[in-house]
Amino acid sequence: KPRILSGMQPSADSLHLGNYLGALVNYVKLQDEYDAFYFIPDLHSLTSPDGATNLAERSRATVAQYIAGGVDVERSTLFVQSHVPEHSELAWVLQTITGFGEAGRMTQFKDKSTRYGQDSTNVGLFTYPVLMAADILLYQADGVPVGDDQKQHVELTRTLGQRFNHRFGETFKIPEPIIPAEGARIYDLQNPTSKMSKSAQSPNGRIDILDDPKVIAKRIKSAVTDDGGVVAFDREAKPGVSNLLSILSAFTQTPVDALVQSFEGKMYGHLKVEVADAVVARLEPVRARTLELLADPAELDRLLAVGANKARETAQQTLDAVYDRIGLLRPL
Ligand code: TYM
Repeated sequence: KPRILSGMQPSADSLHLGNYLGALVNYVKLQDEYDAFYFIPDLHSLTSPDGATNLAERSRATVAQYIAGGVDVERSTLFVQSHVPEHSELAWVLQTITGFGEAGRMTQFKDKSTRYGQDSTNVGLFTYPVLMAADILLYQADGVPVGDDQKQHVELTRTLGQRFNHRFGETFKIPEPIIPAEGARIYDLQNPTSKMSKSAQSPNGRIDILDDPKVIAKRIKSAVTDDGGVVAFDREAKPGVSNLLSILSAFTQTPVDALVQSFEGKMYGHLKVEVADAVVARLEPVRARTLELLADPAELDRLLAVGANKARETAQQTLDAVYDRIGLLRPL
């Protein structure tokens, strides 16, 4: 089977709707056809200013949400990045073949460093995409299921893999991003030209998987729209309504055009009710199951230990090959 690898940062207690539709839905769908590795990039979270907060609990909560969302622990390998030291080791090597300017062109780095400001931007934020490349290349992944915002990082991963292969000899498989047709970019409900994110200033524009259903319904009902009054898809002129249509389309597997037709002559309120119902119906069981799983942290830790052992087998092989190809003096 071809292999996929992906992960979501444990930088909050809950994943949000963007993570769910942009990534988790595909994790679940793809585990049938692929040998799937899903991990918790805890070392990546250290790059945000408060990234170390509750990291152990948040790592467990994140893996619980993978499982509650439908990732099958029998088929897929689940592990925590810091349990497999080869990630950091390969990242170092890849840093030495990454151009300074190349890293500086990453739009997520530019956005986040602007937001955090000089004093809160650490060097790890700058090299973060290189650690991500290491995550992917270590496992010889064929595909990387991610939302739209990670596409540039997967592109850098391909560039670095190709560069290493070219310089030192064929070592890495070159992966492709796997981006969902619907839900690849979900926007903030209050500020629908910005993507939904863990770090938005106000939580009102976000829907978290672990939110109370009443809170979810309320946030959708108070989503910003426009004063046009016609349900239509137009990202530029009607970003709020378009975002709601994308969410409904992703949840109901109905093309946006068909949805627009079905709302002909109806008001935004109708659209919001349908969106709220669809989101709550899908997320409520995920929330309930997550809470059940979190009641037994020892079992989650056990699963993660099994996953880390399995992941290390592949990771060690790749790292050994890398050191050999470069020609480092190897220990006896
Ligand atoms: P992270 O933790 O920011 O996001 C996790 C996944 O959710 C997707 N996503 C979204 N999709 C649609 N709409 C949104 N508003 C939205 N917000 C987030 C992201 O595209 C992502 O797929 N660097 C990664 C984590 C990572 C990784 C990796 C992923 C580290 N190493 C190796 C894949 C492979 C990140 O910060 O994602």
